[in-house]
Amino acid sequence: MTGFRTDLLDALRLSPGAQRPRRLRRTAALRDLVRESTLAPDDLVYPLFIVSGRDVCSPVPSMPGVDQLSVDRLEAEARELGALGVKAVLLFGIPSAKDSVGTESHADDGVVQQAIRKLKDASPELVVLTDVCMCEYTDHGHCGLLADDGSLLNDETLEILARIAVSHGEAGADVVAPSGMIDGMVGAIRAALDAGGLEQVAVFSYAVKYASAFYGPFRDAAEGAPAFGDRKSHQMDPANAREALREATLDVEQGADALMVKPALGYLDVVRSVHERFPELSLAAYNVSGEYAMVKAAAANGWLDERAVVLEVLTGIRRAGADLVITYHAKDAAAWLQERS
Ligand code: PBG
Repeated sequence: MTGFRTDLLDALRLSPGAQRPRRLRRTAALRDLVRESTLAPDDLVYPLFIVSGRDVCSPVPSMPGVDQLSVDRLEAEARELGALGVKAVLLFGIPSAKDSVGTESHADDGVVQQAIRKLKDASPELVVLTDVCMCEYTDHGHCGLLADDGSLLNDETLEILARIAVSHGEAGADVVAPSGMIDGMVGAIRAALDAGGLEQVAVFSYAVKYASAFYGPFRDAAEGAPAFGDRKSHQMDPANAREALREATLDVEQGADALMVKPALGYLDVVRSVHERFPELSLAAYNVSGEYAMVKAAAANGWLDERAVVLEVLTGIRRAGADLVITYHAKDAAAWLQERS
């Protein structure tokens, strides 16, 4: 304490009754008692990439720990998720053949349709969500039908998205999640599901999806990178937050059962504002492939403590207002949460 003037210290000393927030941080049990946000395995959704073929488990290089799986591998996957307490999956399909109109996206025997049936057979209580988009199924890698000049045709694409959603619903999906940011997609899908006797199938809209560079590794995993151009004419500009409320409002009006913000980490302000505007709706945040890859790369280099960082990131997304988090960390996080409890 040399060099410190004691009269100054006296002046700074708190009175006995002063506010001392540290009192409630003193022990682990006290911290547990006053914790504001929780994180549990059943808040998490695990994405799966389904490929055709038999006994395929093909690692995705830019997403260590994530594999493309064939349908026959899904029973074991469902068992593993069940043991970990993860209760929901989000399916993406990588078709055996692509064409300009994405025919396999809505084929009754397409990879995703087969995967839904297999998972529901193996584990009826598992919640199956499906991504509804055309980009994995088109040879040009765009999210819809293209005009001659290469621009995305909005209303023509809606018809195909509706067909995809109905084929997923007929195969047994609990939730369809349109991810293309095509205007009117929620309304078109809701109407088609209802007309097809699939009123029980919920629509989770990727209502607020940004044109993000953080989808890079996903495009390796799903083999759905655009062959030319980008997705900026339909996905949102990362600079915009008020527009997110406009997008969310439109999807709520069209009958969305839940909303999604994507990516998560750079957009936690948007998660918070959508949560505050629509507190009555469930809100998902998608902790996307690039966010996963960053943590994995740093952890592999010994630069970050993977377990601590993952639990911090997922808790932060919940704190911002997300009810559920779609994340490639789901299995690891669930195992760590089980150990902790
Ligand atoms: C589109 C879709 C994408 C992601 C989910 N659905 C890619 C894109 O919009 O380009 C990205 C997910 C991730 O990066 O983890 N079908």
